[in-house]
Amino acid sequence: MPLEPALFILFGTTGDLARKKLYPALYALHTAGHLAPQTAILGIGRRDWDDTKYRETIVASLRAAEPAAHLDDTTFTSRFFYHRMDMAVQEDYTGLWDHMIRLETERQLGGNRINFLATAPELFPVASRQIGLNRHPGQGSFRRLMIEKPFGQDLASARSFNESLREVFPEHEIYRIDHYLGKAMLQNILVLRFANQLFEPGWNRQHIDHIQVSVTEPFGIEQRGGYYDNSGALRDMVQSHLLQLLALLTMDRPGGDTPEEIRNAKVSLLRALRPFDADRAMTEVVLGQYDGDSRTRGYLDEANIPAGSRTETFAALRLSIDNDRWRDVPVYMRTGKRLNRYDAKIVIVFKHQPYPGSAKESGRNTLIIRIQPQEGIDLRFNIKQPGMTTAITQAHMDICQSCDPVVPSPQAYEKLLYDAWSGDLSLFTRWDEIEATWTLVDSIRQWRKQLPLFRYTPGSNGPVAADRLLARDGRAWLNL
Ligand code: BG6
Repeated sequence: MPLEPALFILFGTTGDLARKKLYPALYALHTAGHLAPQTAILGIGRRDWDDTKYRETIVASLRAAEPAAHLDDTTFTSRFFYHRMDMAVQEDYTGLWDHMIRLETERQLGGNRINFLATAPELFPVASRQIGLNRHPGQGSFRRLMIEKPFGQDLASARSFNESLREVFPEHEIYRIDHYLGKAMLQNILVLRFANQLFEPGWNRQHIDHIQVSVTEPFGIEQRGGYYDNSGALRDMVQSHLLQLLALLTMDRPGGDTPEEIRNAKVSLLRALRPFDADRAMTEVVLGQYDGDSRTRGYLDEANIPAGSRTETFAALRLSIDNDRWRDVPVYMRTGKRLNRYDAKIVIVFKHQPYPGSAKESGRNTLIIRIQPQEGIDLRFNIKQPGMTTAITQAHMDICQSCDPVVPSPQAYEKLLYDAWSGDLSLFTRWDEIEATWTLVDSIRQWRKQLPLFRYTPGSNGPVAADRLLARDGRAWLNL
């Protein structure tokens, strides 16, 4: 079913995000028949391009991202139009509004507008304010604003940005993006937990020993030195993706499945995360920075990184959740660049269930939720070893959702664009979630100067201090 016709206005159309994620996502929506024939995309950038040049670059990016894309017919590319302007200059917006109205009239778009902010974050406040103040044309049409992360740099800046947004947009028009929420397995967490009698009753401190969350990347910061050096792993990954994932994994059962009920449950969980004081930061936070080797550059030698930068490219944390469900169940998280593999997963380790008598050793039940590159669920439990023996062994029930899919999972941005277009806010973050995640991350970052910054070898598991974090509790990272 096609989505309602709309003008999709892409601020920051010449950037990395548009090239790597948004054009492929729009292309997937187009080929699936979700975009109405008259829907148009107006890309905004500072380069001196015209529509032809713009369409050529889209074809080139798509060919790089998806070599199998059929781009010979122009039905997809002819949806794209280019507008050149400086988004920092207020006067430049008048020309943009004229261009939008012209396109809306020509293509009979009816006034629905989806604005997507994929610019450098410094431009978010000015661009969103101008969009918000602009008179919206159609009666009965919708206007939406999708905003990429980062939403602020800390709690104070996020709050001030949010206040300025709310002066010009009602909350229901604001779609704050965390693209991890668009990943299939994050949505699957809710079904796995809340639709299974097998799991839901045991999802708590009585049955679960601890939780591990790992999101590791083999590549470095690539061309993003300017952004990354002001960010670091805590801001770039923990405040957003990892805490969102944790909220879905550990929140209480929501009252229903509306966006508000799900987000209420997430907020309660995020507010129950214990903030870090100096002692906990010293013992329960490990920060690292990658070195170089003969093949790859160290972080300090990457482009646009100031000499002696102490920005962390790796973070491992031991989190505590102060509520009845999770008290005393540690959550270990780690994320970093230039590690040994591309992998995102959750490992839930259940408490030990001893077999009657003392002779037989049973292993712990373990549930692995694989987010990427493979999507799936792997449950490990004890069975009798086959044969005459009565010894116990671990069986794996391994469901790979992405190995031979009947219906392949949509890419995260494809799902998020589809939902925003349909007006479904469930997978977008509400302000109070952002407030709670920045509160936690600020509580760690305030001790950054005092914390050691461990070096690590590219292609490794990160600093050995991250192993010590678990070893102290008699545990180890499970690279399953
Ligand atoms: C982005 C971060 O939000 O997420 C990047 O800014 C990171 O640094 C990326 O590489 C990871 O996303 P994915 O979908 O590749 O796991």
